[in-house]
Amino acid sequence: MGVMETVGNASAPPRPPFVRGLPLLGNMLEFAKDPALFFVKCYREYGPAFRVRVLGNTYTCIAGAEAASFMGTREGKECLRSREAWQPLVDEFGASKMLTAVDGELHKAMRGIMKRGFSKESIKGRYNFMIDITDKSIERDWQTGTQVPVVQAMQYMVVDQLGTVLTGSAPREYVKDIRTTILYILNVLVTRQRPKFMMKMPEYKRAKARMFELGRKMVADYRAHEAENLAKPDDQKTLIDDVMEAHREDPELIPERDLIMLMTGPYVAGLDTVANTTAAIVYTVLKYPGVLERVQKEVDALFAKGPVNEDEFMKSLPALNGAIMETMRLHPIAVAQIRTATKDFVFGGCQIKQGEMIYLGTAVPHFQDEFYPNADKFDIDRYTKERAEHMQVGAYSPYGRGPHTCLGKSLAEVLLAITMARLFYKLDLELVPKDYTLKTKTAPTPGPAMSFKVRVKGYRH
Ligand code: HEM
Repeated sequence: MGVMETVGNASAPPRPPFVRGLPLLGNMLEFAKDPALFFVKCYREYGPAFRVRVLGNTYTCIAGAEAASFMGTREGKECLRSREAWQPLVDEFGASKMLTAVDGELHKAMRGIMKRGFSKESIKGRYNFMIDITDKSIERDWQTGTQVPVVQAMQYMVVDQLGTVLTGSAPREYVKDIRTTILYILNVLVTRQRPKFMMKMPEYKRAKARMFELGRKMVADYRAHEAENLAKPDDQKTLIDDVMEAHREDPELIPERDLIMLMTGPYVAGLDTVANTTAAIVYTVLKYPGVLERVQKEVDALFAKGPVNEDEFMKSLPALNGAIMETMRLHPIAVAQIRTATKDFVFGGCQIKQGEMIYLGTAVPHFQDEFYPNADKFDIDRYTKERAEHMQVGAYSPYGRGPHTCLGKSLAEVLLAITMARLFYKLDLELVPKDYTLKTKTAPTPGPAMSFKVRVKGYRH
């Protein structure tokens, strides 16, 4: 060993340790079975930086509260970028860029355009209308005496809700195609859990063509009424209006070729995230003793008063919101966020190299007793003012972290609350069998297995 090398080794931090695994398969089995648990285990054993091998590929991971906080710091913003993680999706849509794939000033500008349309502002004055949409969806897909496949029924409900937020009506005849397109996109292009050749399958190609048709139709519908749309008062404008106006004003920032992706983007962002989260909430509320009773008492009291008051709505549902937050802690749909290192940096005492793809395990603290005493226990009172366990630094990240934190968060929170409040108000549900333990899936989105069903015993209201 040369002198130079010795000196170099003494001063340079070590590379992140490799997580022990099988030859060839590496850590694939454990990872595929339960990514959240796998990240927690690695974090406990190796600390906040480690490397994982899956089928000959190496993935660098940084995890825990440190990693979650890092994403929001100046250094984090300088060291991490999102382009590579999402570029395959941009290419698939023939677009020039998308919100999740850009960083820095460009990202700020795009987020500014879409902020209002993705926030709860977009349904201001329309909560009672959203409740009607939700009720119709419940009456259609959750009939007395039937066993309902929960994730699928929720996917249909979300499309009803998002379609209404965006365009005033649900694109029902496209639901199946939207679901199929998203399934392939997430599995192959975003989470890369399935091989690339799948994008050549006829089922996908047909569904994608239909999704593009929907996007083109949304643009054409907007243009057919452009003058009226432009004249709408600000509080009636939707994401579609904001994007189309930005396109008119600055076609370089929002070019024609990006419009289809921008129109259909909310479905890509909202469908599986909300469907898997709501499905998991159905399970936890029915499963853990005492929760359903508390939730029903609250929603019965609220809806007995007639149409909801928007300023009071979220505040009048502490038990339900506790159940939602607790479910998102234990069943996060995004276990890790994917980024690329823009330069060499040191994290957790380990050297991270420029160009490496990095998995940021932001959900790890959700499972740590240090933050959530008795972390395995489902406890909806963790989020009260007195306890506020989620307010500890880096402890709670169901909507991601840093500059790309879910732009739809405030809208999603209201949608989740409306959906769950109406479901438990209207329906008398039970698990099948009654002591059912949840089966989960990891692809395309971690959440309840598609086979998860509940029985509708009857209607309460
Ligand atoms: C339970 C519901 C939801 C969860 C848990 C969730 C979670 C997330 C997470 C973890 C990210 C960050 C991804 C990353 O950093 O790589 C994200 C981004 C995003 N989400 Fe959500 N999401 C939800 C619902 C929605 C809904 C309903 C919409 C809109 C219709 C939406 C729109 C977006 C957008 C536009 C981004 C990209 C933000 C950016 O790149 O700047 N999300 N979401």
